[in-house]
Amino acid sequence: MEKVDMVADIILKSRTIVVFTGAGHSTESGISDFRSPGGIWSRFDPSEFTFQKFMASEEGREKYWQFSSASWPEMAAAQPNLGHHTIAELHRMGRLDCVITQNIDGLHQKSGIPDEKVIELHGTAHWVDCLECHRRYPREEIHRRFEAGDKVPRCEACGGIMKPATVSFGQAMPVAETAEAERRSAACDLFLVAGSSLVVYPAAQMPLIAHGKGAKLVIVNMEPTPHDHYADVVIHGKTGEVLPQILAQVKAKPD
Ligand code: APR
Repeated sequence: MEKVDMVADIILKSRTIVVFTGAGHSTESGISDFRSPGGIWSRFDPSEFTFQKFMASEEGREKYWQFSSASWPEMAAAQPNLGHHTIAELHRMGRLDCVITQNIDGLHQKSGIPDEKVIELHGTAHWVDCLECHRRYPREEIHRRFEAGDKVPRCEACGGIMKPATVSFGQAMPVAETAEAERRSAACDLFLVAGSSLVVYPAAQMPLIAHGKGAKLVIVNMEPTPHDHYADVVIHGKTGEVLPQILAQVKAKPD
């Protein structure tokens, strides 16, 4: 309990709190992460789903759409868990600068955090982009086409290649979001990591930017991460359990 208490004290002393989430933060909402035992990359080969493979052939695009569409229904139906609701409560208390997320599930927005406070470093599964004319379509609309047999959906406006608005390995990171995440990481005085293995860059650079600028670094994760030795506090546990405990301590203390 004392680590939870330490984090609560740090939160009360902090003025600019950035929360950084990874796929581990959504597992308690029923969405698989990537690197836990049984995670997505233990069932699929990531080298099959690079942006290069997607762009190289119709067959590569068909394979990608099959892979991405298989998990869309569960992602679309997923609900925020106690970890998401805790972060949303921090927002309502006026204690959240922003969420920087690697997740594509939109659950931070579903929990009530306004769009402008969620930086989606790896894009979103909720939209589909035409890579030629850049028209954006709701994922549900394209998913219905896929379900009806259109296995490599093309843009209705220009016939161009379309892809879910997520960032695949080998695909360029979103420029504005990455720059904004770096800026907010450098400006915060508390950087709280929740549910990430911190092994994929440039996302995993964000906690190091914050730490390098003197911010407190707290990591809540089931497993150790390569950045644990930089952290002021590391709590190995479930985000859906630990974050609510931290919030309860924040509320129990005199402000
Ligand atoms: N509570 C806390 N930690 C959890 C929980 C949980 N309920 N469930 C899983 N974890 C931990 C796992 O132990 C693991 O260390 O969360 C971490 C999830 O790590 P990854 O699966 O690697 O997910 P992430 O860090 O988001 O991966 C980064 O890799 O494949 C790309 O684009 C993908 O955004 C993703 C990026």
